[in-house]
Amino acid sequence: MSQTEYSQNLLDHCINETDASGRLPDYRGKVRDIYNLPDNQMAIVVTDRISAFDHIFPEAIPFKGQLLNLIAWHNFKAIQPVCPHHVLDVPHPNVTIARRCDPLPVEVVVRGYLAGHAWRVYDQGGRTLCGKKLPEGLRRNEALPEPLITPTTKATRGHDEDISEDEIISGGLVHPDRWEEIRRVSLSLFDQGSEMAAQKGLILVDTKYEFGISNNELVLIDEVHTPDSSRYFYADEYEKRLAEDAPQKQLSKEFLREWLIENRHHENLDNQLPRLPDDLRISIYERYRELYEKLTGTSFEPTPTPGFNAFLADLLAWYDRK
Ligand SMILES: Nc1ncnc2c1ncn2[C@@H]1O[C@H](COP(=O)(O)OP(=O)(O)OP(=O)(O)O)[C@@H](O)[C@H]1O
Ligand SMILES: [Mg+2]
Repeated sequence: MSQTEYSQNLLDHCINETDASGRLPDYRGKVRDIYNLPDNQMAIVVTDRISAFDHIFPEAIPFKGQLLNLIAWHNFKAIQPVCPHHVLDVPHPNVTIARRCDPLPVEVVVRGYLAGHAWRVYDQGGRTLCGKKLPEGLRRNEALPEPLITPTTKATRGHDEDISEDEIISGGLVHPDRWEEIRRVSLSLFDQGSEMAAQKGLILVDTKYEFGISNNELVLIDEVHTPDSSRYFYADEYEKRLAEDAPQKQLSKEFLREWLIENRHHENLDNQLPRLPDDLRISIYERYRELYEKLTGTSFEPTPTPGFNAFLADLLAWYDRK
């Protein structure tokens, strides 16, 4: 198969916006289409949409949804002893049947290293992040003295904003006892995610957790330790690159952000979204697949997607009747 055929073949499999043979999702997030089911359950379809800088691009990434959903499922199973999670079943690589929870109004970001947004704040002279003091003399991508919780608000539109733990409590967003539990669980999840990454030669740099409440129980929702919610570095080259202040070899959706920055598209996204070239979409797919294979230790067998909407309609009908 020629390179062009290979690319076209892959690009034909993108799931962008789903409808279950005419039934539209009850909620469409940036990446997920959500269909309500009886008994406080929901079918979450992880699509191939990709977002960066809070913009969703019309061109999707082949099999990204399957890769993300399966990585999340792999990790959810592993973290069960630390915290209950929302997954009830994964009846298709793009679909998770989940327990519907009341989402908490904050996202819990945990950072082990000074990267991404935290580095940008630090580099511009900021020495506090979400109310936490940062020591002097840190380099880009350097390990923090200990993992930091740097929460953000969960904006219904626009950017999520940094918020301190004090503000979360004083603003009444989360009850103090619940927040204590969230902090403990988040740090312990981060430890476990770091451990799992290390076994695969990766460093879990930072990640974001979303929690919900169901029957007064704290439940981990959405996704966990996926490349969409986390940043990973390759451990073997980490020290060398740090010493040279070279960019780290990383596996995350930073690729799209970096491409946008390199091509100077990021300043103008509100006015015009650039078209993502086919080769970029294929290379992002390959990075996601690489991470899947590294994290799960299994090779990725894509499930072809033609006919997905009809499959989804049958699946929803089955759950509706159950
Ligand atoms: N078990 C659950 N119960 C309730 N809500 C959930 C559950 N799991 C995920 N969600 C919510 O479903 C949505 C998933 O959509 P998605 O991840 O595509 O959106 P997003 O990028 O987070 O942005 P937004 O939802 O703000 O558009 C999120 O708002 C998430 O909080
Ligand atoms: Mg999300």
